[in-house]
Amino acid sequence: MATLFSTHSSSQNILITFTIIFLASSLLPSSSAITETDQHRPFKKIYAFGDSFTDTGNTGSLTGPNGFVHVSNPPYGTTFFHHPTNRYSDGRLVIDFLAQSLSLPFLPPYRNSKANRTYGVNFAVAGSTAINHAFFVKNNLSLDITPESIQTQMMWFDKYLKSEGCKDPESDQCKEAFDDALFWVGEIGVNDYAYTLGSTVSGDTIRKLAINSFTEFLQGLLKKGAKYVVVEALPTTGCLPLAMTLAPSDDRDDIGCVKSVNNQSNAHNLVLQSKVSDLRQQFPQAIIVYADYWNAYRTVMQSPEKYGFKESFKACCGTGEPYNFEVFNTCGNPSVTACSNPAQYINWDGVHLTEAMYKVVADMFIDGNLCNPPFKTLLERKLRQP
Ligand SMILES: *[C@@H]1O[C@H](CO)[C@@H](O)[C@H](O)[C@H]1NC(C)=O
Ligand SMILES: *[C@@H]1O[C@H](CO)[C@@H](O)[C@H](O)[C@H]1NC(C)=O
Ligand SMILES: *[C@@H]1O[C@H](CO)[C@@H](O)[C@H](O)[C@H]1NC(C)=O
Repeated sequence: MATLFSTHSSSQNILITFTIIFLASSLLPSSSAITETDQHRPFKKIYAFGDSFTDTGNTGSLTGPNGFVHVSNPPYGTTFFHHPTNRYSDGRLVIDFLAQSLSLPFLPPYRNSKANRTYGVNFAVAGSTAINHAFFVKNNLSLDITPESIQTQMMWFDKYLKSEGCKDPESDQCKEAFDDALFWVGEIGVNDYAYTLGSTVSGDTIRKLAINSFTEFLQGLLKKGAKYVVVEALPTTGCLPLAMTLAPSDDRDDIGCVKSVNNQSNAHNLVLQSKVSDLRQQFPQAIIVYADYWNAYRTVMQSPEKYGFKESFKACCGTGEPYNFEVFNTCGNPSVTACSNPAQYINWDGVHLTEAMYKVVADMFIDGNLCNPPFKTLLERKLRQP
């Protein structure tokens, strides 16, 4: 598996991409019309974790991964915020649609220390891996400039808890931090595979190490007291223009994407799901939802027009044939332009998705049947709590 990039050693640091930022996010508007009495607000807080698919501003052009070094430039943010916010999209991400659906403001990035953390914090950081950074250094694979892993995010979460005065789990401060909080654990692991492409480290090794590390992380959250947890699977990474550009053209599956890469993320997800079942046994007081990003994306690819998409494979913002993507000339570079109709595109910059696609995925998770158990079940459980 994962022979995808083996002939392109230079592509390694490009994949290094799953990313995002923090400079401008303090300028983001919070969603309007939120009142303390809002009955449609089952959670008081959200804590989010993950990589660039979830990051609302913990990195920027200079601090994020190598592949997308213009994220602080227009046209990032053009559709919704009308300026770059260091989100890797033209607008809102799944986590933003989730916050809105729960009548909460957009989550501030952890690294924005001035932000008001009353409604939660986003610890997701672009380029982040599931496996500890030291592993990549040891294997001479530290071309990425994003040293953060999911363990870093746990460290940040611990610091946050301390700052809230939460030390003893029985204390009011800890109850305040955990009881009414939703833990949204965004997709993580895509970078682990990307950083090791073309190396001697096998996909099987990455799967084992990444899932072990990620499972430990989830256990850590649950032991500390997380009660409502959503875990996102890996998406169909073989459908991203980056993968389509680098893979041989005969490596394709029934939806036209890169077969070996989609198979790899599917194989990862199968193991992840079994770990999630184990955790449900270990922590029966918690509800752990599996959000099936792989099948959400696949469903859209099967009938894109049903969701308003006219372009499934090309990036909206980019340059070059056939996928409007060139590894060394990506979105945000002044010479690169965006399409005029991002809502008709699934992909934004070659790796990250358009706001329109994130909205479709968020709807599938929140209102559709791509969560197991359904997100509605988690909400009902929360509403039954005193
Ligand atoms: C943060 O926001 C909450 C809710 O709007 C408000 O009550 C609180 O005073 C704010 N905290 C600070 C430090 O501004
Ligand atoms: C990493 O690079 C160093 C210096 O080039 C070399 O000595 C070492 O053997 C390499 N390690 C691995 C795991 O390839
Ligand atoms: C797909 O993944 C499975 C493991 O889930 C593996 O056994 C199979 O060989 C893979 N097939 C391809 C075409 O990569």
